Amino acid sequence: MASLTVRQLDDRLKKLLRMRAAKSGRSVEDEVRTILREAAEDTGRTVLDAFEPPTARSRARTSRTALPVETKRVLLIIGGGIAAYKSLDLIRRLKERGITVRCILTKAAEHFVTPLSAGAIVGEHVFTDLFDPAGEFDIGHIRLARETDLIVVAPATADLMAKMAGGHADDLATTVLLATTAKILLAPAMNPRMWANKATKRNLRQLAADGAAFVGPNEGEMAEADESGVGRMAEPLEIASAVQKILSAEGTQLLQGRRVLVTSGPTYEPIDPVRYIANRSSGKQGHAIAAAAAAAGADVTLVSGPVSVADPPGVKVMHVETARDMLKAVEQALPVDVAIFAAAVADWRVANAGEQKLKKQPGKSTAELSLIENPDILATIAKRKMQRPKLVIGFAAETENVVANAKLKLISKGCDWILANDVSPRSGVMGGDRNTITLVRSSGTEAWKPQSKDEVAATLIARVTETLNEEKG
Ligand SMILES: Cc1cc2nc3c(=O)[nH]c(=O)nc-3n(C[C@H](O)[C@H](O)[C@H](O)COP(=O)(O)O)c2cc1C
Repeated sequence: MASLTVRQLDDRLKKLLRMRAAKSGRSVEDEVRTILREAAEDTGRTVLDAFEPPTARSRARTSRTALPVETKRVLLIIGGGIAAYKSLDLIRRLKERGITVRCILTKAAEHFVTPLSAGAIVGEHVFTDLFDPAGEFDIGHIRLARETDLIVVAPATADLMAKMAGGHADDLATTVLLATTAKILLAPAMNPRMWANKATKRNLRQLAADGAAFVGPNEGEMAEADESGVGRMAEPLEIASAVQKILSAEGTQLLQGRRVLVTSGPTYEPIDPVRYIANRSSGKQGHAIAAAAAAAGADVTLVSGPVSVADPPGVKVMHVETARDMLKAVEQALPVDVAIFAAAVADWRVANAGEQKLKKQPGKSTAELSLIENPDILATIAKRKMQRPKLVIGFAAETENVVANAKLKLISKGCDWILANDVSPRSGVMGGDRNTITLVRSSGTEAWKPQSKDEVAATLIARVTETLNEEKG
């Protein structure tokens, strides 16, 4: 990755950067990162326009980005977490996309951001109190709940999610959340130990089963010194694109009535009761595919190996560890119309796995593990005579000769499509957020531009939809 020294920029640029950073409350370094990220995501023309007057082309591009959600309304509920300050930026990002924003601050949120600063960015009064006569006669909690296309909770604190999962309604935010029929998107943010707590996990499962959607949390540094792990709120740009995706997917339930099976994540193959062989798969791609299929209205079963990403909302999830368990779960999920095998299944398991923890042997500096082939889940399902899905799709994770190997795999496995991707360390695919795919079918290959794993999922589900609808027609 190239590095950039701000000191080397010309004085005018440095001054502009400092002014922008001061205005948005970020460090200069963070401001540069924000600008670059926006430019890369092709959504940041308005920011870059501060340095370069907009051209006709950039203006056209800006208005095109805003189009699909132009008249949509989002109610943003800011919870009482340290990440609340990022939600002020989120308001700007949503408004840039032509979305009308209303905002509720919980009592705890007011310790982190003020109604005045949120209101200044929203451009209208923000709501804080259930029993405020002025607010109640003006708009009222029921209108706040009804007059929105989507409710976004960011940061979704552990406490707020617990209250939602339990159906509480003891303040304005929870009452509105209980009274709404709109879709709810949660951006959790908390200390990694709070995130890993069994109570939080239980509440998350409940909220996912109730139909809430999630974005994040991400892994990284916490606000507290020396704390890091999973629990950082997704960045405002990530939340804004999740919002856009939900708002533009509304009404396009093209996979309604279809059953889709997706596998995701790694498998763990035990060496003994405490050790295992695994791989670097994060499950991000498979989970994104399951979420995209569910957003398109499909009845989705996700068979997932051990991952730290959250279960996608509205999806039946079967959690497994080994390749053999994964195959069993996949067979249980049949019949389906489409099966997408995105999991990184271990090719081998340990034949001589110990029943007890293996001990070092005195005087012996080596130990042998004998490996035995695991069942080939993709080939097993693709070659089934009974209950073979109409479309069987595999992934070919290769580190060399990616497309050539994928073509061979298409034939040897008997599947219909292969999504070939380069997982060599230089590609950053394993564990990263982006993917570069070549779709290999018997009719030919199609190279997709490098894109986020969410975009890959959306593109794949669009192709699946086209194909199923062609068959129907
Ligand atoms: C400095 C500070 C930071 C906090 N950050 C978080 C956080 O990031 N996530 C969280 O779940 N709770 C956090 N808490 C605890 C919440 O503020 C507390 O649980 C509160 O009741 C949540 O209110 P809410 O339900 O209105 O969001 C923090 C508390 C303090 C004092």
